[in-house]
Amino acid sequence: MNKKNIIIIGATSGIGRALFEKYAAEGNRIGIVGRRTHLLDELRQEHPDTTVVATADITKQDETAQAIDALRAELKDIDLAIVCSGTGDINASLDYALERPTIDTNVTGWTFVIDKLYHIFEQQGHGHLVAITSAGGLRGEPMAPAYSASKAYQINYMEALRKKAYKSGNHIHVTDIRPGLVDTAMAKGEGLFWVMPVEKVSDQIISAIRRQKSKAYVTKRWHVLAIINKNLPFAIYKRI
Ligand SMILES: NC(=O)c1ccc[n+]([C@@H]2O[C@H](COP(=O)([O-])OP(=O)(O)OC[C@H]3O[C@@H](n4cnc5c(N)ncnc54)[C@H](OP(=O)(O)O)[C@@H]3O)[C@@H](O)[C@H]2O)c1
Repeated sequence: MNKKNIIIIGATSGIGRALFEKYAAEGNRIGIVGRRTHLLDELRQEHPDTTVVATADITKQDETAQAIDALRAELKDIDLAIVCSGTGDINASLDYALERPTIDTNVTGWTFVIDKLYHIFEQQGHGHLVAITSAGGLRGEPMAPAYSASKAYQINYMEALRKKAYKSGNHIHVTDIRPGLVDTAMAKGEGLFWVMPVEKVSDQIISAIRRQKSKAYVTKRWHVLAIINKNLPFAIYKRI
C-alpha cells in the first residue's frame, strides 16, 4: 500500500485519535493538531519517525495557520487532511455562554481550517479533504441548538466545496463523514441509543475515505435513521 502524507486536525482524542492510530500503524506520515500538547506528544512517542505535531486552538487563526504551515513544511505534499476538531454542549436553556464556543469552534474556526486546507490542495493541484460533520446536522435539535446548526453549516459547506472541486477540474476530493452517536467524550446527554464504538466507526471512516465517497454515515445503520429523520414532516418531528 502506498504511504500517504496525512494531516489530522483534532487528533488528541476520540475519532481523530483512532484515525491517527490506524493510519500511523500502516506507516503513513502524519501531522497532528490539537490544543492538548501532552496528548500530541504521547502520540508522537508511539510513532516518532512518522509523526509531527503542532499545538493549536482552531479558534485562534494565527496559531492555526502557523501549525498547519509547520506541518506542511515537514510533510511537504499533503495527500489527505481530516478535520475532526469540534465541540458542543447540551443547552436546552439557550445559555449563550455555552452556544458561543460551539459557534467559535465548529463554524468560525472550522471554516478557517477547511479553507486553508482547500487552498493548499488548490496549490498542489490535488488532495483529499475530509470533515467529520454529524448526522445531528440534518435537523434542528432543541437540546443542542448551536451544535445541530453548526453541523448543518458544515454539511452545506462541504457540499459547496465538493461542487467547487468538481467544477475546478482539479484532482481534489471532498468527503463529508456524518457519524451518528459515537462512544467518545462528545456523546453527551441522557438516554443515548445506538452509541457506536470508536473502533468500528473509525474503520468505516477509513473505508469511506479510501473509496473517495462524497458523504458517508457511520456506522451504516445510522444511514437508515438519518433518512427517516431528514424526511419526517415537522408536524411529527416536533412531537418526538
Ligand atoms: N461522538 C459523537 O457522538 C459524534 C457524533 C457526530 C459527530 N461527531 C463529531 O466528531 C468530531 C470528533 O469528536 P469526538 O467524538 O472524537 O470527540 P472528542 O474526543 O471530544 O474529540 C474532539 C477533538 O476536537 C479537538 N478540539 C476541540 N476543540 C478544539 C479547538 N478549539 N482547537 C483544536 N482542536 C479542538 C480536541 O482536541 P483538544 O481538546 O486537544 O484541542 C479533540 O481532539 C467532532 O467534530 C464531533 O462533532 C461526534
